[in-house]
Amino acid sequence: MKILSGIQPSGQLHIGNYFGMMKTMIANMENSDLYVFVVDLHALTSVHDRQKLATGTLEAAADFLALGLDPEKCTFWAQSDVPEVCELAWILSTLTPMGLMERCHSYKDKVAKGVDASHGLFSYPVLMAADILLYQADQVPVGKDQKQHLEVARDIAQKFNNVFGETFVVPEPFISETTATVPGLDGQKMSKSYGNTIPIFLEGKQLKKKVMAITTDAIPVEDPKDPDKCNLYAMLKLFATSERLQEVRDLYVNGGAAYGYIKLELLDLISDYYADARQKKAEFLADPEMLRVILRKGAERAREKAVVTLDLVRDRVGLKY
Ligand code: TYM
Repeated sequence: MKILSGIQPSGQLHIGNYFGMMKTMIANMENSDLYVFVVDLHALTSVHDRQKLATGTLEAAADFLALGLDPEKCTFWAQSDVPEVCELAWILSTLTPMGLMERCHSYKDKVAKGVDASHGLFSYPVLMAADILLYQADQVPVGKDQKQHLEVARDIAQKFNNVFGETFVVPEPFISETTATVPGLDGQKMSKSYGNTIPIFLEGKQLKKKVMAITTDAIPVEDPKDPDKCNLYAMLKLFATSERLQEVRDLYVNGGAAYGYIKLELLDLISDYYADARQKKAEFLADPEMLRVILRKGAERAREKAVVTLDLVRDRVGLKY
């Protein structure tokens, strides 16, 4: 099975990205034909700073590799190194209904949060559909926030197949139930644009500051509380063993759950969980040329697949005169 997903290099990657997508992708490395890419063209919709975008791409690559992605066991590249995706995006855009695009909430959400209302931001889902369809992916692991974009990709694939004949695999989203929406410090979805993230590689005092800032209610320690309504418990669930979770759960239900202590426990768990990766990330970042070589090799492999699909598409639509 072909499994594909991408991530934007538009800021520090956070534990929502990790549990919503990266962890699933890394776990799929052994048993699937895996495609992982850093979507720098998409990031251009919100980053207009040459240095920031270029370093962001290398950092995101270092993050993925440090967390365990093996570039020998998958195809790993930077989106812009396979320019065929832009041509496919244009072709797809000519049969994407405006109504479909106008229903996409992420455009409105991003504009409401201050991102410039550019044409690129509006047509973001078409480029994402091209990303997926170009490689004929069967399955796309994402967080719940990308569900609508996957529906758009499926609609576009089906429309193309209806108009021009069977061409594209219609991709399926894969959204893990337990980590579909990882909450942020304030209980809303963890997101760069809400400023409520815990970056994966944060450590020491900075990490402590974040964890201590997780919002909780004001119910006294000795009173019973509902763990399933508690943001701190939701985060603990990602890192603690099931035995420990049961103990903490009992404290919530019976009284005795002290948020301050639970936060310190969570702090240690996060710190330990990413300790190895933190070390490896530093090693990767110390050698940016190696990162470039890895991405370029990956792009060569990705491009071999991309040209096959694009050639078929060109033929189907009549661009081969
Ligand atoms: P991006 O960079 O915003 O996010 C990367 C992945 O992280 C997931 N995610 C979350 N999952 C659970 N809880 C959260 N709080 C959380 N925050 C982020 C996202 O759902 C995503 O899976 N449009 C995509 C990038 C993209 C792409 C693609 C993905 C471009 N082309 C083709 C798949 C296939 C995005 O913005 O991801």
